[in-house]
Amino acid sequence: MSPTKEQIDQFLAKQRKLPKHIAIIMDGNGRWAQQKGLPRERGHEAGAETLDKIVTISAKLGLEYLTLYAFSTENWGRPQTEVDALMHLLVETIKCQLPNMMSNNIRLLAIGDIDRLPKESKESLLAAIEETSHNNGLNLTLALSYSSRWEITKAVKEIVKEVRKGNISEEMITEEMISNHLCTTNTPDPDLLIRTGGEQRISNYLLWQVAYAELYFTPTYWPDFDEQALMLAIDDYSNRERRYGLTGEQITTGIH
Ligand code: FPP
Repeated sequence: MSPTKEQIDQFLAKQRKLPKHIAIIMDGNGRWAQQKGLPRERGHEAGAETLDKIVTISAKLGLEYLTLYAFSTENWGRPQTEVDALMHLLVETIKCQLPNMMSNNIRLLAIGDIDRLPKESKESLLAAIEETSHNNGLNLTLALSYSSRWEITKAVKEIVKEVRKGNISEEMITEEMISNHLCTTNTPDPDLLIRTGGEQRISNYLLWQVAYAELYFTPTYWPDFDEQALMLAIDDYSNRERRYGLTGEQITTGIH
């Protein structure tokens, strides 16, 4: 059940710290469906309903950035019927989400090789990005046709081109410059990466950006993940100490 405003306020008041940016690998749709004797596509449909719940509660919790892995570069290799169903679901999800995004002040963004999407999916995505572009609450990014190695390769090629043209020298290449050539430029790195569905791996997702993210794995299949499950993950994050390579003492005293 969706928590009330009072429950949300109580929850927020007891957190030691809150993540600014949560990234999620929404895994387990297929297994959820199979377990119920349903086709995989039904799992994705149920997954889209979870997406709706998680986006809404994230906005209500005041989260600034939510980045969802909706379709990976590798997912193009799935059976064509499943790819088609996912691309159609993307259009439907955007259509259903748009009023929610407008009323909750959510700005939609996308990362990935968007040009590979079918025309209808790409057009509805770009139209929703445009329509929500003035919203300044939650930044909701869908990773579509995305993989980190694709993104990093693209960034390297862009930087090499700049060096070749003589616009920059090799010495000018910094971590910041590389970050600025990734799709997530202008977005802070995720503080918390959640993966549902029981696997404990990153699967080519935001590899550069999650360098210092806290990782949270849950066996819950994505369609069964809900508002309480997200709040549990945030609560877990809130009790972790992030040291960024420093000692615990340096972090507590602030002396370093
Ligand atoms: C991984 O589960 C999930 C995906 C590949 C798609 C995620 C899609 C949604 C949450 C629905 C909304 C859709 C879009 C495109 C916005 P899996 O199929 O790998 O599950 P499995 O590991 O159990 O087989």
